[in-house]
Amino acid sequence: MKVTVVGAGAVGATCAENIARKQLVEEVVLLDIKEGLAEGKAMDMMQCATLTGFDTKIIGSSNDYAATADSSVVVITSGIPRKPGMTREDLIGTNAGIVKTVTENILKYSPNTILVVISNPMDTMTYLSAKSSGLPKERIIGMGGILDSSRFKFRLSEAIGCSPNDVQGMVIGGHGDTTMIPLIQHATYNSSPVTNYLTPEQQAYVVQETMVGGATLTKLIGTSAWYAPGAAGAFLVESIVRDQKKLFSSCVYLDGEYGQSDICIGVPVVVGKNGWEKIIEFDLSADEKEKFNASAEAVRKMNSVLVDMKMV
Ligand code: 2OP
Repeated sequence: MKVTVVGAGAVGATCAENIARKQLVEEVVLLDIKEGLAEGKAMDMMQCATLTGFDTKIIGSSNDYAATADSSVVVITSGIPRKPGMTREDLIGTNAGIVKTVTENILKYSPNTILVVISNPMDTMTYLSAKSSGLPKERIIGMGGILDSSRFKFRLSEAIGCSPNDVQGMVIGGHGDTTMIPLIQHATYNSSPVTNYLTPEQQAYVVQETMVGGATLTKLIGTSAWYAPGAAGAFLVESIVRDQKKLFSSCVYLDGEYGQSDICIGVPVVVGKNGWEKIIEFDLSADEKEKFNASAEAVRKMNSVLVDMKMV
């Protein structure tokens, strides 16, 4: 089985490395438009094979899409990352054209692939792929919710003083600083509601820090984060290629679920070999529903820029 990662920047390379280390597939193709970059990173990673013990073959390609032929899954990370002070939404003008071209090129060689979209603004880039690719909606998944949920669980574990692996929690809605919805009332610490362990102030802090998680890192590092975004991409790929049917939050095309249509936004989904296989409708409170609808409105406004750009 073969997986392609488009974009050999920090997120794409980290995603490819995670896929290889976990030996999820026989072959990973890393492709980038910049001459030599993907070949170089692929070679560097392959020189880890005997050190970290993997047998996955990683192949770099400078924009030769023929090398990606027959990929079961393609992860799209292409585009410019955020700089400090930028929102994910500021990237749409540049990244929409890139994501559209990448999607077209990929489909020439892998017409039945499953697309995993990481490029920002992620909800709108997922929508762009959904509208322009012609693929069945189940075969297009945006990664944001997994990353945001992982950040949420980390923040909860810090506040509780426990292992992040003992925390269950989910972030739904858009992958934006103001649009994501950490579902703190549904989160648990080993089956017990986290709200039993945290004061209302601590809960508010966790929610706020989760929402601005990407911006906090961008400010500290000077560019977008990559370890968790790359690992989150590989986590999604794993559920597909191993047909794990894991339940997590991802950005998918809604057709009436959660009261929304013609939009890609984060909701709980089961992911397996066919892409996203089922949307799980959580019993949201009135406040959570209101937040979800407001988030959808913000994402829809961003999607309307695609119409202005004549992209969809
Ligand atoms: C993040 O939140 C890259 O959007 C990604 O770090």
